[in-house]
Amino acid sequence: MKLGVFLPNGQNGYILSKSSPQFVPTFEHMLAITQEAEAVGLDFILSMIKFRGFHGATGFWDSCLDSINLSAGLAAATKTIDLYSTVPVLGIHPAVAARMIATVNDISKGRSGVNIVTGWNKPEYAQMGLWPSADYHDRRYELTAEYISIMRALWRDGRVTHKSDFYQLDDCECFPTTGRDIPIVCAGQSPKGVKFTAQYAEYNFVFGGPDKLRRIAQPVLEESARLGRKVGTLALVTIIAAPTDAEAEAIWRDLVANVDQEAVMNVMRSASMDTNPDGTSKHFLEGLNAPVEEGNMTFMGFPVIWGSYESVARQMLYQQRHSGISGMLLTFVDFVAGVRAFGEHILPLIRAEETRAAA
Ligand SMILES: Cc1cc2nc3c(=O)[nH]c(=O)nc-3n(C[C@H](O)[C@H](O)[C@H](O)COP(=O)(O)O)c2cc1C
Repeated sequence: MKLGVFLPNGQNGYILSKSSPQFVPTFEHMLAITQEAEAVGLDFILSMIKFRGFHGATGFWDSCLDSINLSAGLAAATKTIDLYSTVPVLGIHPAVAARMIATVNDISKGRSGVNIVTGWNKPEYAQMGLWPSADYHDRRYELTAEYISIMRALWRDGRVTHKSDFYQLDDCECFPTTGRDIPIVCAGQSPKGVKFTAQYAEYNFVFGGPDKLRRIAQPVLEESARLGRKVGTLALVTIIAAPTDAEAEAIWRDLVANVDQEAVMNVMRSASMDTNPDGTSKHFLEGLNAPVEEGNMTFMGFPVIWGSYESVARQMLYQQRHSGISGMLLTFVDFVAGVRAFGEHILPLIRAEETRAAA
């Protein structure tokens, strides 16, 4: 099972609650999490980008460290873990992004990857005058396909000519080339997002409870197989583990009881502007009253896997077998302690079961 950590480089991480740890992200904190993840043997970290927070009593995501710059710093201070930077297609020109990622690739000696985001949240980009047009929600994957082909050409050949409605590049240069294919992941869950991911990405991120997971993982696997490609699917989850089930349950119940309703409503307002059907925005709207196992909005719609260490390991293995996913992207309540406990108590159980099953 491929395992990574979704770094909480936006304020307060991924929990919209007055009783979760309150923090403004710092490099020091992100480095501590990444070094812990590397030490316990996780495969990768991924950081996010948000240009406008969701406010509320907790100031949810109001501060956010830039993802690519953060990866550059982490690259210099780590040795083996892969570093995925989020590239926002509306915020950075593809030739500039290609150079920034090539730089992280050099610093990390070949450990950089890209999480490509099309931008679902209009206020974030409209505040900078960067929301392109009224039909952008519907055309965002079209633009992103061109964006990726430009970056890939520059990483491979160091030059590209590309003329379209979206981009005008005339013998554009970008050296040094990367000398390796930079892996690209995408998190589109809408039908358009799935089609796009199957065609262009190496991994797809999905989120949903155990049954939904199977339903949403399959289309990417089928569509990519039809195109002769292999695209892995990683489930995004929050881990709440403790010595006993009761202790873990008390933690999530307290977080839900203290939900930051104003911040949740602000996420809802943005999600309801999204006209691209059946994607993440719909999942957010459904998450207002969903059980935590299915993706409640207290946890930004991420399903919670909770319980004793043994129970969490068992549930993770079950979900993988049941849905055909290739791994998971993990978030925690307290990230440094959470990653350490995961490495100490849960990961050995998962690896032992994998070894047993392989034999
Ligand atoms: C693991 C993961 C990471 C994401 N990171 C970001 C991010 O950093 N910034 C952002 O604007 N959107 C981010 N998103 C949102 C997606 O990129 C995508 O825009 C969203 O899922 C909507 O696409 P859809 O309508 O096709 O589902 C992320 C989603 C997931 C699941």
